[in-house]
Amino acid sequence: MRVLRFDLERPELEYYFHELYQAFDPGVKNVLTGKADGVLVEKTIGMQVVLTLTWEGGKSLTRTYQLNNSVEPLENSVYKGFLYDFLSEYFEKTLQWGTLTGIKPVKMVQKYYKQGWTSTQIRNRFRDYYRVSNDRTDLLLQIAKTQDSFIHSEQVNEANRRISIYVGIPLCPSKCDYCSFVSTIVDKKGENLQRYFDHLLIEIQKTGEVLKDSNLRIDTLYIGGGTPTVLSANQLERLMSVLEDSFDLSQLREYTLEAGRPETINREKLEVARAHGVERICLNPQSMNPQTLFSIGRPWEEGLLEQQVKLIKSLEFKTLNMDLIVGLGNETPDDFLQSLEAVIALDPQNITIHSLSIKKGSRLKDKNGIVVNEGYGEDFYQAVKKRLAMTGFDPYYLYRLKYTRDNSENIGYAKPGHEGIYNILMMAECQSTLGIGAGATGNLYDPVTDNITKVFTVKDVKTYNERFEEIVEKKLSEYKNYMCLFY
Ligand SMILES: C[S@@+](CC[C@H](N)C(=O)[O-])C[C@H]1O[C@@H](n2cnc3c(N)ncnc32)[C@H](O)[C@@H]1O
Ligand code: SF4
Repeated sequence: MRVLRFDLERPELEYYFHELYQAFDPGVKNVLTGKADGVLVEKTIGMQVVLTLTWEGGKSLTRTYQLNNSVEPLENSVYKGFLYDFLSEYFEKTLQWGTLTGIKPVKMVQKYYKQGWTSTQIRNRFRDYYRVSNDRTDLLLQIAKTQDSFIHSEQVNEANRRISIYVGIPLCPSKCDYCSFVSTIVDKKGENLQRYFDHLLIEIQKTGEVLKDSNLRIDTLYIGGGTPTVLSANQLERLMSVLEDSFDLSQLREYTLEAGRPETINREKLEVARAHGVERICLNPQSMNPQTLFSIGRPWEEGLLEQQVKLIKSLEFKTLNMDLIVGLGNETPDDFLQSLEAVIALDPQNITIHSLSIKKGSRLKDKNGIVVNEGYGEDFYQAVKKRLAMTGFDPYYLYRLKYTRDNSENIGYAKPGHEGIYNILMMAECQSTLGIGAGATGNLYDPVTDNITKVFTVKDVKTYNERFEEIVEKKLSEYKNYMCLFY
């Protein structure tokens, strides 16, 4: 692995360059330390700026840019485009996402639309300014269009009065090697789970009290993890009853329960969920290949997933979501496509395709460091999209993670009417979410500035249990301040 460094005259761009370089060469270790292998020099001559990038071996690129006036410096995006063009020449390849390294490209499109841009203007912007491929730009425009009806389905003022609730259960039966989410393994007697659960119920009740006097109404409710179905049927019953007693759920557009791992559900738990109005349930194979699952420390039992899908269908949940991950274990593109076929055969209404991201906190990273293997190539991504489109699945939600194979994206696909509304709202950042529990970040939306303020909280169950009162008091005081805007 090489250690590379650039002497940039704009220190704020160093981190960005590190990311962009890694997008071209995922195996590279660290472009910020060590002796410089390349130097970017900027010279201003009158109203022109000349950028020269000289690389090891004498390779260089020079470009001249016109300044709009003598006061404003060149925008960072100009440097990004310049670096991109250089690296594109150097590596002799282009990136589907061009200079974009952020996780929410759909939101950029939504912003441009809000500012009155036309689709053509947005297309030109993404192509010329951000170097994004036409395929990905079209995908973004398609997704933004689909999301529009979920975001602006009511008058703007009314929409501002809707919020979502996320209840986090960051506990799991065991840890999967690739997973970087902070989750705690349930201990043998389930004591850490029970303690967490007792605290969680108190936090729910207290949050309900804060919300009571505001005239905000709850739009979507999401119980996520971890693996919330590590709770027993009795615990689920109690959790859902406390949620009903604490909040007015009469206007819910969507109620989701993440079931995650097939071995954590049974008829009793699903009946509880159904009786309390859960309509969207997530059951995730990640891969349908038993060897792959064993290799990443995820249990597999012959026929179990299929049996659980049958059970879910018999209870008539409106939407079944299933997650797959591209790039697990030693899987080839064909292995993934086989998993995809097997999932399609189970007939879920919603499929989320993630690209394996090797992040800090996962066992894979601890074992191997960040090693992102050779990509699967564009043909593979197009094949996945085409196969899903043939079966009636449209992309409705997209976000990107760092350290992925092919620098690619995560896409939620759904049959019309089965889109995950909570997912859409979260990514669009157009509504507040009250997070309840460990690791459940709150998003407080200010309709005047169109900005989100994050309310972070502790992520691990142990600290949450130990410092419960202080943690919840801090979180609630932020929620309370926000609610004052809506009395
Ligand atoms: C918070 S996890 C919870 C899922 C649930 N506990 C389960 O195991 O099925 C949500 C989803 O993120 C995806 N995910 C987790 N770790 C990932 C990684 N390192 N790279 C890509 N996707 C990942 C998985 O597809 C997973 O279903
Ligand atoms: S993938 Fe799901 S079950 Fe596995 S460790 Fe992560 S949150 Fe837990």
